[in-house]
Amino acid sequence: MSEVVTYNRDGSVGVITVNYPPVNALGHAVRSGLLAALNQGLADAEAKVLLLVCEGRTFIAGADIREFGKPIQEPVLPEVMNQFENSSKPVIAAIHGTALGGGLETALGCHYRVALGSAKVGLPEVKLGLLPGAGGTQRLPRLTGARKALEMITTGDFVAAPQALELGIVDAVEAGDDIREVGLAYARKAVEEGWPVRRVRDLTDKVEADKGSEVFDEFRAALEKKARGLFSPFKCVDAVEAAFTLPFDEGLQRERALFSECMASPQRAGLIHAFFAEREVSKVKGLAKDTPVRDVNSVGIIGAGTMGGGIAMNFANVGIPVTLVEVKQEALDKGLGVIRKNYENSAKKGRISQQQVEERMALITGSLTYDDFKDADMVIEAVFENMAIKKEIFAKLDAVCKPGAILASNTSTLDIDEIASATARPQDVVGMHFFSPANVMKLLENVRGSQTSDEVKATVMAVAKKIKKVGVLVGNCYGFVGNRMLHKRGAEAMALVNEGATPQQVDKVLTDLGYPMGQFAMSDLAGIDVGYRIRQERRNSGEDVPLSWLDKLAEQDRLGQKTMAGVYRYEEGSRKPIPDPAVDAIIEEFRKEQGITPRQITDQEILERCMFVMINEGAKILEEGIADRSLDIDIVWIYGYGFPAYRGGPMFWADQIGLDTILNAVEKYYDELGGDQWQPSALLKKLVADGRSFGDL
Ligand code: 3HC
Repeated sequence: MSEVVTYNRDGSVGVITVNYPPVNALGHAVRSGLLAALNQGLADAEAKVLLLVCEGRTFIAGADIREFGKPIQEPVLPEVMNQFENSSKPVIAAIHGTALGGGLETALGCHYRVALGSAKVGLPEVKLGLLPGAGGTQRLPRLTGARKALEMITTGDFVAAPQALELGIVDAVEAGDDIREVGLAYARKAVEEGWPVRRVRDLTDKVEADKGSEVFDEFRAALEKKARGLFSPFKCVDAVEAAFTLPFDEGLQRERALFSECMASPQRAGLIHAFFAEREVSKVKGLAKDTPVRDVNSVGIIGAGTMGGGIAMNFANVGIPVTLVEVKQEALDKGLGVIRKNYENSAKKGRISQQQVEERMALITGSLTYDDFKDADMVIEAVFENMAIKKEIFAKLDAVCKPGAILASNTSTLDIDEIASATARPQDVVGMHFFSPANVMKLLENVRGSQTSDEVKATVMAVAKKIKKVGVLVGNCYGFVGNRMLHKRGAEAMALVNEGATPQQVDKVLTDLGYPMGQFAMSDLAGIDVGYRIRQERRNSGEDVPLSWLDKLAEQDRLGQKTMAGVYRYEEGSRKPIPDPAVDAIIEEFRKEQGITPRQITDQEILERCMFVMINEGAKILEEGIADRSLDIDIVWIYGYGFPAYRGGPMFWADQIGLDTILNAVEKYYDELGGDQWQPSALLKKLVADGRSFGDL
């Protein structure tokens, strides 16, 4: 008997207990342990009913993802489930925490299911590029019917216990928090009442009702829009459909074949990399696990614009009071009005209640004076990107804030050390770079200055978690990780258009790769005037910043979505970018002025120049220690810029392509085009010479 699964008896109930922290995943030891325990229970003449229950925080949370991609060791999960289902004694699953993926499939292989009221169930395999591969696509629809099963399996969304009861996924929901006690009481009842073995595979009514239904094609059509570029959601539909067209055993075989296809897909590898990377980023290299974390129970924010308002919402959403300071009453009123409107919109969509709108608004207090920051545990500055203004603000904060308060800047590019130099407490100064819209985007790029204390670093990472963001700690340089790479891509995209590509051709290559929008659609969303103002300021201060056709757009008041015209044009009430011949003419005129003869540019060249320039920069970022690991860069791009998670992030994607291919192209473009951005990274060269990849670092 394996140590992770044990068998013992309580009266007439044979109890199978899984104890495999942290989440009782179905690793090899658990699978073989389950079979051994089942056989022990079957051989135990005193046991009339068997109960499956888990120790720790949760019921089985799925297959052991760490085993994916490695050779499969017998027994495989579907076989374990078949043996449970074929047990001659009734088996009851007692669910607490989250029964997910293979965990819910295990429960579906049992004959009865009882859950705590706080439990949740779900088949989230699709989020990992997979489909339920241990009978879930065949058994769940036999309980819920086609539509609900398709919904759960194609979205991966969890269902709370009371709803699971309504849907027939569990048979009973009990109050209490001791799952063993709840399970035993339920099992004793089964013994007393002589409940028979009841196999989900034998249920036929739901299958008969939905046979030949159009719901499968309906889901496929909807997925064409919702799951663009993804592989496994479509396979999920095929697998569920098999439950309605094939006998159970053949359906299982079909599910297995489709599961194997998904398992072999690069999307599965990318999504699982993203899953673990998201968890790894919180473990900051060089930061001791027991580093003390400061309490952050009140927050001050400077600037009630789009960024400041969005940041304030994050804190109010989790019950932390915010003092929002502006220079003028009018700007403050406007900012508070926008926040209220955002909350009201969420209420209209049913995401929060009207009462929550009021509760959250009550947590945000407007003010016109920094004096109101005197008790704040943390103050975040979110004003225009201008070093002189920021330094002035930080000097004032230094004078007003209590000792130990964290002073953070939401700067997206500027030097944190220089900002900190305006204070007498550089150890308390840090960057907290939110992404727009700040109440939606999951990334929080926390930037350490050279003197930022470990305690402050640990605290901003803890704050990220508290406000439900993914925090990544990065070093201090122009643009940090995200914008430093983005700016290289942006410059290359501009160069490509100058040389002959169209903005829509560049954008299409990027959206075909899986980005939600291309470089130029993004400029329109952010506002063409933002970059224009920065360029003008640099020009005014004497820097040599070459003119571009984007400057011409700004000068013609084509500022992007907000003026219904930018690089694209927009129609009333729509955010869909429409190519505009007027812009082609502006670009053409610009080329003439610059003496450029346009040439045909291939999509492959666009892909290589936009993406490889980023990878080369990413390698330099690693080389300089700005990011600790390539997975930190991957997470910045997935959660800050919508890089497709199914490609695992730009650095994982580069590893898949092969770093030698990338280096060859970088060297070629360096010869052809020159420029620092194409100077090959020393790290990239070294990795290629050693036959290693970013993931090996
Ligand atoms: N396999 C291996 N490790 C897992 C795991 C799994 N299925 N699920 C979670 N873990 C690990 C995490 O990596 C983390 O490890 P760490 O502490 O070393 O970083 C630890 O368990 C705790 O996880 P979280 O930090 O995510 O803890 P939370 O409490 O926030 O969330 C959870 C718990 C809801 C279970 C969440 O971890 C989760 O969603 N896990 C994935 C569930 C899933 O996708 N299951 C389906 C797997 S595929 C499958 O079952 C195929 C089958 O159909 C054949």
